[in-house]
Amino acid sequence: MKSKEICCIGAGYVGGPTMSVIANNCPNYNITVVDSNESRISEWNGPVNDLPIYEPGLKEIIAKVRGKNLVFSNEVENSIKKADVIFIAVNTPTKTHGEGKGMAADLTNIEKCAKLIAESSSSGKIIVEKSTAPVGTGKKIKSVLNKENSKVKFQIVSNPEFLAEGTAINDLMNPDRVLIGGEQSEEGHKAVNTIADIYRQWLPENKIILTNLWSSELSKLASNAFLAQRISSINSLSALCEKTGAKIDEVSKSVGMDSRIGSKFLQPSVGFGGSCFKKDILNLVYLSRYYGLQEIAEYWESVLKINDYQKSRFYDKIQNTLSKTENPTVSIFGWAFKKNTNDSRESASIEITRKLLNNNFTVKVYDPMVKEKTIIKDLQDVLNNKLNKLTVCSSAEKALKDSHAICILTEWDEFKAMNFKNLSSLMKEPILFLDGRNIISDNKLNRTFKKFMSIDK
Ligand code: UDX
Ligand code: ADP
Repeated sequence: MKSKEICCIGAGYVGGPTMSVIANNCPNYNITVVDSNESRISEWNGPVNDLPIYEPGLKEIIAKVRGKNLVFSNEVENSIKKADVIFIAVNTPTKTHGEGKGMAADLTNIEKCAKLIAESSSSGKIIVEKSTAPVGTGKKIKSVLNKENSKVKFQIVSNPEFLAEGTAINDLMNPDRVLIGGEQSEEGHKAVNTIADIYRQWLPENKIILTNLWSSELSKLASNAFLAQRISSINSLSALCEKTGAKIDEVSKSVGMDSRIGSKFLQPSVGFGGSCFKKDILNLVYLSRYYGLQEIAEYWESVLKINDYQKSRFYDKIQNTLSKTENPTVSIFGWAFKKNTNDSRESASIEITRKLLNNNFTVKVYDPMVKEKTIIKDLQDVLNNKLNKLTVCSSAEKALKDSHAICILTEWDEFKAMNFKNLSSLMKEPILFLDGRNIISDNKLNRTFKKFMSIDK
């Protein structure tokens, strides 16, 4: 087969792992991953033990394909020029100003890419929308491309990412499905098939779904909204359990054993985090309002309201329990929004810590994977004099020493394996607040901690 040139713009949590797996499965394709952030690219080109992203299995693949058919580079324009296919995998944060502030996705990065692609292209290309983006982004990219360069033919394809962080490599190797949406024309179908050919190198035909552009874009938002809705549903019931004496783990198990419902994404937690769920639901809400569908907007918005409520409820427990303690110190275990990633975007730990610091608690944080500079950056909107009350610790022991309470907020295996008896003796007053994702037996905890509380008690 003829070698194909692929360029991916954006060397982040989506672009890096996705292109690594494509390169590994498709030796006939040459892939260049580019990014405007020079230090990120040099990290991708550095030692495999210090890649900018931690994902189980990623460094082994990088060691195998980097420098062969996978290259990381800052030469964005050159790579665009020689590519037949360009994946756009840049970040699309929620807008912080202007129309749709706090709701709609900021498409500035995607628009910049579209402009640069138009300026740098002298031959036809397929542009693949990989970033999590609102419905209608494909149309927007097309209009920028046509406006800036009418001489070259571009085809826009939506190929949303369904990988979850922490399991990205497995999700990419064995996805439930790959979704590819394109324009309903002969050229559109051809472009969709060109992208499907990449995935056909390692996946059977029945895993590849071909749709129109809008269905593909909406399916991505819908999938994340459904998943988040399940978590908010179980979290809402955890509050009811607290009042009634029912146990949320027992309710979750019973509900999940109904094969029509299924057991996944029914783990109660202090609230979901990650870069996608909140942003995608906000996009869905914004889209619904845009089309005058007020009831639909409110329905999905309530999923976010419950998520915020859950975080506040958890914080209130800490505050009420320690209200009489002088100079209270709390240890936060886990900064990543879930285990097996160094990503902390929208992590519940940020919100809980922010509230603690703003209410004069001293906070000691320990996470096995998230770097101190990330933790400080996550709290940049907390006043400087409050940050004096924060210590990022390099071990569990250091984080627990002389604290009054510990909150385990990320389900790292390391935490589950801990010897709480030894550790709690370092504390001033061994009180534990537990997120429902951390399955540690009640017996073990009752014997160790003076008091332990989870989201349903
Ligand atoms: C999600 C989607 O799963 C993925 O398909 C999409 O491509 C990107 O968004 P991600 O955010 O990486 O992936 O992780 P996910 O495993 O979905 O977890 C999201 C959050 O929900 C985490 O904070 C997690 O701890 C929390 N969660 C998950 C729960 O609170 N309870 C659960 O039962 C499951
Ligand atoms: P995601 O989780 O969506 O992958 P990340 O923030 O991890 O998000 O990665 C997105 C990457 O895209 C970042 O490394 C950022 O520097 C890069 N990026 C954003 N805009 C541009 C652009 N216009 N050109 C090149 N790279 C960009």
